[in-house]
Amino acid sequence: MSPVRAASAEDLSEIRALLESAGLPTGDLPSAQPEFVAVREGGALVAAGALQRFGTSALLRSMAVSAGHRGQGLGDAIVLALERAAREARVERLILLTETAGPFFARHGYQVIERSEAPVELQASEEFRSLCPSSAICMAKQLA
Ligand SMILES: CC(C)(COP(=O)(O)OP(=O)(O)OC[C@H]1O[C@@H](n2cnc3c(N)ncnc32)[C@H](O)[C@@H]1OP(=O)(O)O)[C@@H](O)C(=O)NCCC(=O)NCCS
Repeated sequence: MSPVRAASAEDLSEIRALLESAGLPTGDLPSAQPEFVAVREGGALVAAGALQRFGTSALLRSMAVSAGHRGQGLGDAIVLALERAAREARVERLILLTETAGPFFARHGYQVIERSEAPVELQASEEFRSLCPSSAICMAKQLA
């Protein structure tokens, strides 16, 4: 059974700490309110990822596995859980920005696109406009 669960409000401070330790931006979490899933092991929050929806598209964002728990399939489990949640919400296209995990997402069928090819609502998001460096690549996957 998947260890991935929908995150609760009580998980948010630990999620924020996990993202910060992975070098991912957290500045827009209060305003963007992405929908998180997370994994706990032995009481500690060890993996998380989120969807930020924009109609039939969504940003797959804020995904991290704690350094001591990488390479055990948790990243894969988070991606699969987020894609399942996206399909249930009738999201047709997932977009993400990443600096270092391009090959990880390519294994899941994500393809590199120009930022300008992303839906305009996503381009207007804080993550796109100011938080993720311009060196981050943009990737997309069609779900529907
Ligand atoms: C990217 C990340 C989430 C992967 O998590 P993980 O739990 O280690 O991933 P998994 O164990 O599920 O890995 C599954 C497979 O992907 C591979 N993989 C993991 N990270 C990879 C990477 N950065 N590049 C290429 N392949 C990668 C693994 O080797 C494994 O392959 P295998 O099944 O053939 O052995 C994790 O490295 C991380 O938190 N990175 C820092 C934050 C980040 O970059 N987030 C993404 C931007 S939102």
